[in-house]
Amino acid sequence: MRPFLKWPGGKYRIVHEIKKRLPPGERLVEPFVGSGAVFLNTDYPAYWLNDNNADLINLYRTLKSEGEEFIRYCRSFFVPENNTAERYYELRETFNATKDVVLKSALLVYLNRHGYNGLVRYNAHGGYNVPFGQYKRPYFPEDEMRYFYQRAQAAEFTVADFTEVMTAARPGDVFYCDPPYVPLSDTANFTTYSAGGFSIEQQKELARFAVKLARAGIPVLISNHDTEFIQQAYQKAQITRLQVPRFISCDGANRGKAGEVLALFEGARL
Ligand SMILES: C[S@@+](CC[C@H](N)C(=O)[O-])C[C@H]1O[C@@H](n2cnc3c(N)ncnc32)[C@H](O)[C@@H]1O
Repeated sequence: MRPFLKWPGGKYRIVHEIKKRLPPGERLVEPFVGSGAVFLNTDYPAYWLNDNNADLINLYRTLKSEGEEFIRYCRSFFVPENNTAERYYELRETFNATKDVVLKSALLVYLNRHGYNGLVRYNAHGGYNVPFGQYKRPYFPEDEMRYFYQRAQAAEFTVADFTEVMTAARPGDVFYCDPPYVPLSDTANFTTYSAGGFSIEQQKELARFAVKLARAGIPVLISNHDTEFIQQAYQKAQITRLQVPRFISCDGANRGKAGEVLALFEGARL
């Protein structure tokens, strides 16, 4: 089943490849859940789904507890009168100003389907700033939301930094990590480059955590771009290379075909 949100770096298109490489376990943990493509298309007894985007996690929690009523409420925003630039910017302002979690969550679904190209972007003050998308007839993902709601009953949702989640791993867990991608080209200022607020130091820290967890018997699968830096950082893992067509990129310049790596950190031999 497709995720109900369009999300940068969404893994729906390669979920079958990811599934093949995920070991069995009692609980699947996703420190960077995004739209939840892997959660929705796997079958673990329990899930711990985390992201540091509080708006996203509040939406998931609201859907999990409110179900049909919330889906109906979200649908009420998908009317032709709301599909104009003027109305879009008004509702975007409401989204940024409101403290009402249910309204904010419903507006995130609206903005996601009426905004430009499935982008998710905030300004320096934390304001959502994606421009109007000009879609003829925005799709309301009713079946997808209903499926997410059903599956969410077996999931726990948190807002935290990935380091906190990895520190709280326990035996029986399996980790799937989909961090913001490293940049495709290794530029001169590479060591300080940070894409989507995720620095190279954080990429390295994630790899260190993966080795540590694997040694403790907790397998970790990570996806990322296939670059020299990543090959170096993930050298202790079993690597699979994929060619992935990408339609939404965090970075417009990186569009098109990009090599993708799946790295499985597993076993005490690491
Ligand atoms: C590539 S996306 C995940 C895509 C997801 N696998 C899917 O299929 O939609 C990366 C996610 O990591 C989140 N993120 C970025 N930095 C983070 C951090 N330090 N800790 C936890 N999550 C973070 C972003 O909000 C984003 O949702």
